[in-house]
Amino acid sequence: MLPTIEWQRDAVVMINQRKLPSAEVYVTCRTASEVAKAIKSMVIRGAPAIGVAAAMGIALGMRRSRATGTKQFAAEFQKTCDLMAATRPTAVNLFWAIDRMKRAFADAAQAGCSVTEIAQRLETEALRVHDEDVAGCRSMGAHGATLVPESANILTHCNAGALATAGYGTALGVVRAAVEGGKKVAVLADETRPFLQGARLTAWELVRDGIDTTVITDNMAAVMMRQGHVDLVVVGADRIAANGDVANKIGTYGLAVLAKEHGIPFYVAAPISTVDLATPDGSRIPIEERGAREVTHVGPARLTPDGARVRNPAFDVTPARYVTAIVTERGIVRPPYETSLAQLVGSRQPAVGSLT
Ligand code: MRU
Repeated sequence: MLPTIEWQRDAVVMINQRKLPSAEVYVTCRTASEVAKAIKSMVIRGAPAIGVAAAMGIALGMRRSRATGTKQFAAEFQKTCDLMAATRPTAVNLFWAIDRMKRAFADAAQAGCSVTEIAQRLETEALRVHDEDVAGCRSMGAHGATLVPESANILTHCNAGALATAGYGTALGVVRAAVEGGKKVAVLADETRPFLQGARLTAWELVRDGIDTTVITDNMAAVMMRQGHVDLVVVGADRIAANGDVANKIGTYGLAVLAKEHGIPFYVAAPISTVDLATPDGSRIPIEERGAREVTHVGPARLTPDGARVRNPAFDVTPARYVTAIVTERGIVRPPYETSLAQLVGSRQPAVGSLT
């Protein structure tokens, strides 16, 4: 399995996703600030992977803390959490992971642990976040594979694969599980301008796994659907509001509208940690606007003339009415999402409507 991110006691090591596919190089972060920088600059990206990185970054920061007293240690912990929270605003997994670390800290402090013991517990919690993510992806894949016909052309957008998680992937976890189950699957990977996660990352990890992969530019999706080359769409998510509206990589909304027009099922695969019941609908989801250079340049090559203004919203919101079903590690939910999601999040059992 792809090593997206690894804990190495005095460092957090991650594959540099800015360099793929031309170079497979690893970045070693030795401080919490370095981890925060890696998240912000998208050395590591994808909602679940961002959450894991933040948890490990916090654990790393506190492990290296020089604080002697619990008061100073607590102040440093808060600062480190704030640093992580300021990296990227849209993926709720980031805030979910920070909350988990805060709970672990509070429990340890409540139990009268020393500074060293608290740091140890934070490390354990970060590793748990990592391992649970891999297990969740596998379970999500198994549920999602039941939606895939024996022979299927699957369109996906951005990268919701092993690289975007601690391993295996969400949308690509569904693809992998279907392939492992003996289904004949071919993937159409949207290029995903401007950061090219589809062309660079999705194609890289699928080809590496020997899965039939065709890259298309984003503006080819409509004609592919019309010509019958797409049986279903499956994408990941950065945040799912209580009503089922889905924030995901810019361009997802357009695909969902196209899928509806062509009568193609549109599935979202995401862990429960991506569901944000505190956000009632998609209009309340903060959308990250990234720097212009991602649009104006590809590598060192400039594409646009000086003087042209540029927009770069990194995500869009797909209204729930376009989402056929949401695949999670606990099962599959369908509309009305107000009730099915609330039930899912509240349950420890497979969701109502799941295909067990
Ligand atoms: O800007 P990115 O690359 O972090 O955006 C990633 C996405 O939009 C993914 O589809 C989403 O995070 C789900 S990853 C399993």
